[in-house]
Amino acid sequence: MRALRLDQPTGPAGLRIAEVPVPEIRDDEALIRVRAAALNRRDLFITQGLYAGIRLPVTLGSDGAGEIGALGSVVAGLRAGDDVVIDPMLGWGEDPRVWDPAHSSILGMPRDGTFAQYVAVPLENVHRKPAGLSLEEAAAIPLAGSTAYRALFTRGAVRPGETVLITGVGGGVQSLVLLFAKHAGARAIVTSSSDQKLERARALGADLAINYATNPDWAKLLRSTSPVDLVVDSSGGDSLRRAIDAVRPGGRIVVYGGTNGDATIKMFPLFWKHVTILGTSMGSPRDFAAMLELFENGLHPVVDRVFELADAVAAFGRLDAKGQFGKIVLRVD
Ligand SMILES: NC(=O)c1ccc[n+]([C@@H]2O[C@H](COP(=O)([O-])OP(=O)(O)OC[C@H]3O[C@@H](n4cnc5c(N)ncnc54)[C@H](OP(=O)(O)O)[C@@H]3O)[C@@H](O)[C@H]2O)c1
Repeated sequence: MRALRLDQPTGPAGLRIAEVPVPEIRDDEALIRVRAAALNRRDLFITQGLYAGIRLPVTLGSDGAGEIGALGSVVAGLRAGDDVVIDPMLGWGEDPRVWDPAHSSILGMPRDGTFAQYVAVPLENVHRKPAGLSLEEAAAIPLAGSTAYRALFTRGAVRPGETVLITGVGGGVQSLVLLFAKHAGARAIVTSSSDQKLERARALGADLAINYATNPDWAKLLRSTSPVDLVVDSSGGDSLRRAIDAVRPGGRIVVYGGTNGDATIKMFPLFWKHVTILGTSMGSPRDFAAMLELFENGLHPVVDRVFELADAVAAFGRLDAKGQFGKIVLRVD
């Protein structure tokens, strides 16, 4: 089969299409014929050597959708040929509050991932594709969708009518946070570095859209005009300090990433306003199932652009340049 292999962390240019054996499956695994996969910033970070515990060579890719090629054993409700989507969270563990750091991992390093014609995954990670989604749309939701779901609902406990601030709405996860927040009946304020992306966010229901590049004082503006109940952020850097400024007294801030590195925060507004900061990561199996359920109810993820697997280097370049709005998908023939 064809797979996109990474041998050295020399950036996306080091990715190459190679012929490799189709993976063999055990009794507790399924072989999936991948039809579409999607990029996450994690994949880019791994190519750049910026991720913990890198083990190479590997086939990257956490997100995938396709049809079942073979099942290691009988599973109720699933048959060879069914269209499915893969939960990339492997071995979450027993505690719904947090994954088991000793035994869990994410598909696509160290285990070979979805940027290939076939991938082997545990049976428990195989889910029926939401009926209303194309395979390309389904491939766009696993990692970002479960992260967005857990951030907004499980950790953020958003309630209808609350105001949610979504920083950097162009990101794959954040575009889904916007979708979910509007679906939940929240008011959504978004920021982005791009006016075109803000325009697209407005079309998806954003109530207020602010360019953080041209309005660096957005937090002060929000504090005085439009106080925020819940912030969802992954950009790190000075975003957390600004988020603490922007939330109303008693507000919550959920953080699942640090794209721009570590944060320095002011202590006074944190304790004086009784702000809660919540860390989160990819979702549990329960979060994943609940997230899929949302897509059974008419939602569609934002697919930025679809590239052929052979053009993956260009797809990574678009992610690296922050060119995307939503998810970048790879078609796998
Ligand atoms: N912990 C987990 O399990 C988990 C899961 C998923 C993702 N993550 C992490 O979360 C981050 C986002 O992941 P992703 O896949 O959604 O990435 P992505 O699609 O590449 O999105 C990154 C976005 O971050 C925004 N951004 C960059 N600098 C910003 C700033 N100073 N202020 C506000 N926004 C800023 C940009 O939004 P605009 O283009 O709108 O400006 C950019 O598009 C990454 O660091 C990733 O590693 C963690």
